[in-house]
Amino acid sequence: MIINGPNLNLLGNREQKIYGDKSLDEIEKISKQKSNSLNIDCFFCQSNDEGEIINHIHSVESSYDGLIINPAAFTHTSVALLDALRSINKPKIEIHLSNIYTREEYRKKSITSEGVDGLICGFGSLSYILAIEALSNLIYNK
Ligand code: DQA
Repeated sequence: MIINGPNLNLLGNREQKIYGDKSLDEIEKISKQKSNSLNIDCFFCQSNDEGEIINHIHSVESSYDGLIINPAAFTHTSVALLDALRSINKPKIEIHLSNIYTREEYRKKSITSEGVDGLICGFGSLSYILAIEALSNLIYNK
């Protein structure tokens, strides 16, 4: 499962210099192509709602082999998302399009990354592709 947090539905128009010009639909397409090439089924979703994202995270335990999440702004604020991430025992990777450690002070702290196996950031849409490779490795050793 790949979960995208708030405002990521606006990718392609939103702050292009920071986030690139690909829309979320385009990122979904390349993520599914990459997953298919590794024989993995990919469920890709986005929500602006913290509770809905938490419900998606909960569903990973029973229905998915692993999780890639771009929690967007909730990265820096949400202990609730961290608790949800810690509650599931499946491989988990946090991703960001931008390098959050070179940006504003308030973005340099990722609360949610304390609940995942690893973090990939700063590669634009390639962060998604790298995370799919890494997750495939964690789950299937390939
Ligand atoms: C982001 C980085 C966050 O700080 C920001 O709030 C986002 C996008 C990224 O992918 O670079 O919405 O998660």
